[in-house]
Amino acid sequence: MLPIELDDGCQVRRIEDSDAEELAALVDANRAYLSRWMPWAPANTISDTREHIRRAKEQAERDDGFQAVIARNGRIVGALGYHRLDRINQSTSLGYWLAESAQGQGTMTRAVRALVEIAFREWELNRVEIRCAPENRRSRAIPERLGFQEEGTLRQAERIGDRYLDNVVYSMLASDWSPQRR
Ligand SMILES: CC(C)(COP(=O)(O)OP(=O)(O)OC[C@H]1O[C@@H](n2cnc3c(N)ncnc32)[C@H](O)[C@@H]1OP(=O)(O)O)[C@@H](O)C(=O)NCCC(=O)NCCS
Repeated sequence: MLPIELDDGCQVRRIEDSDAEELAALVDANRAYLSRWMPWAPANTISDTREHIRRAKEQAERDDGFQAVIARNGRIVGALGYHRLDRINQSTSLGYWLAESAQGQGTMTRAVRALVEIAFREWELNRVEIRCAPENRRSRAIPERLGFQEEGTLRQAERIGDRYLDNVVYSMLASDWSPQRR
């Protein structure tokens, strides 16, 4: 399943213990930018990153989805993963982020497409969900570009600092999935 070579020269690979320092440094360098949308970003420390990696290993061992990093020329530029696999309802959801300097090249759209493909083809799930704050235009553009359907808005579903943000829910169903979409 992993690693996956994207056609822009980036690689999606499983997160490893040895990524902790590089990943925490990348979050640190992008803290202000990530903190706008990611609840964990403002206070993230190297030990939080180590804990995230430890949980990711447990998740993969449970066969409950996985967490991945995106690397360009061997350097980490972002991360994405499945929150969990809901085997009863055959459903999952995805989260993702990129370093600010790695935006604008279609890398995350390619990486998300690859993970949706795994969800439907390898795990034979029925539904993949992505939730984004309404004002997070760049994030919303990813499911929209991949043909996800917008389903509605959850009110104040996420707390970022002292603000509660709504979440727009997007979904793709196995029966509607066409990986060819941009
Ligand atoms: C959300 C986030 C990953 C989106 O990054 P992004 O660079 O816009 O997304 P992609 O890597 O898919 O790149 C898309 C851009 O590349 C362009 N692009 C170039 N070639 C492309 C291709 N082959 N396919 C798709 N897009 C392509 C697109 O036009 C788009 O640029 P534009 O917005 O200027 O039109 C990033 O903004 C981020 O990490 N934000 C902070 C964290 C966050 O919000 N996470 C999501 C929480 S829900």
